[in-house]
Amino acid sequence: MKLKIAVLAGDGIGPEIMEQGVAVCSAIAEKFGHEVSYKEALCGAHAIDEVGDPFPEDTFQTCMEADAVLFASVGDPKFDNNPNAKVRPEQGLLAMRKKLGLYANIRPVETFDCLIHKSPLKDDMVKGADFVCIRELTGGMYFGKKVEPTINADGVEEALDTNYYTRPEVERILRVGYQYARQRRKHLTVVDKANVLASSRLWRKVAQEIMTEYPDVETDFMYVDNAAMRMIQDPRFFDVMVTENTFGDILTDEGSVITGSMGLLPSASTGEHTPVFEPIHGSWPQGKGLNIANPLAQILSVAMLYEYFDLKAEGQLIREAVNASLDQNVRTPEIQVEGAGKYGTKEVGQWIVEYIKNK
Ligand code: IPM
Ligand code: MG
Repeated sequence: MKLKIAVLAGDGIGPEIMEQGVAVCSAIAEKFGHEVSYKEALCGAHAIDEVGDPFPEDTFQTCMEADAVLFASVGDPKFDNNPNAKVRPEQGLLAMRKKLGLYANIRPVETFDCLIHKSPLKDDMVKGADFVCIRELTGGMYFGKKVEPTINADGVEEALDTNYYTRPEVERILRVGYQYARQRRKHLTVVDKANVLASSRLWRKVAQEIMTEYPDVETDFMYVDNAAMRMIQDPRFFDVMVTENTFGDILTDEGSVITGSMGLLPSASTGEHTPVFEPIHGSWPQGKGLNIANPLAQILSVAMLYEYFDLKAEGQLIREAVNASLDQNVRTPEIQVEGAGKYGTKEVGQWIVEYIKNK
């Protein structure tokens, strides 16, 4: 297969983990006889610094012309505490989602047995938890009508975000959820706040109609507050969870941390144009340039990329190599076990590349 990949390394630890992601991607291509080409493009804080735009037109074109985007992370502390900043790196991420029509964000929440002890939950409670959160990514409050803080006619400062959804938006994301559920344990949970929010009542109404088309899948409904609780009390309850943008943002952070392996979780965003594959974790500016960032989430994002194109053996070999590196204690500092050798971002990536080559 021929694959054109747009490489958006972004900020912070992004370029370092991306280097390893690309190395693994190439090792797999060589092993399985695929022709992969890469084109780098700017995004995030360094794109603001260089061209004044966190998702420049050139980058958009590079993404549109590619078969897939491999993305690392964006963000820089110099923007975080400045509410008056006119442009922010995160706007680049939102622009990319909107312009590429990436309405479905797929975030698997998986546990790795050897890292269970890192979970804030009791081991026996979280062991075996394995679900996917399908987060709607181009609607809701993120993109609804906004009024930035402003003084109103009564002299009171006010601001507004609108949680706007249309039936087609809800329908298409639910269908993505059902497709996943059919390939998994056939259990789908719609997470909403239909007891309070009108937008959630639309979600529930649409879901109650759509579910009749998928009688082989068990559908249930859960309020978001209850879901947040259930995720820590009984994470194994979930198989596929479908939810709106803001709830999904919050619940997926919770999901990544209960596994104890945030640095290992990849994600995919799919929709109308080129799909994007990226780690769930952020740009970790404090770790930049130190060769200590864990490249596994980026590497597993490459596995998701191959799997998206139905190249299952390719994805499987990456997963096998990642598991082998963990089993053999080839790990970055945050998950290193006492007495094991020392490995940085590069060393872990290279070990995985060698494993793939020698397979
Ligand atoms: C995420 C992030 C983004 C979001 C930020 C960086 C805009 O938290 O991908 O979950 O809120 O969607
Ligand atoms: Mg988030």
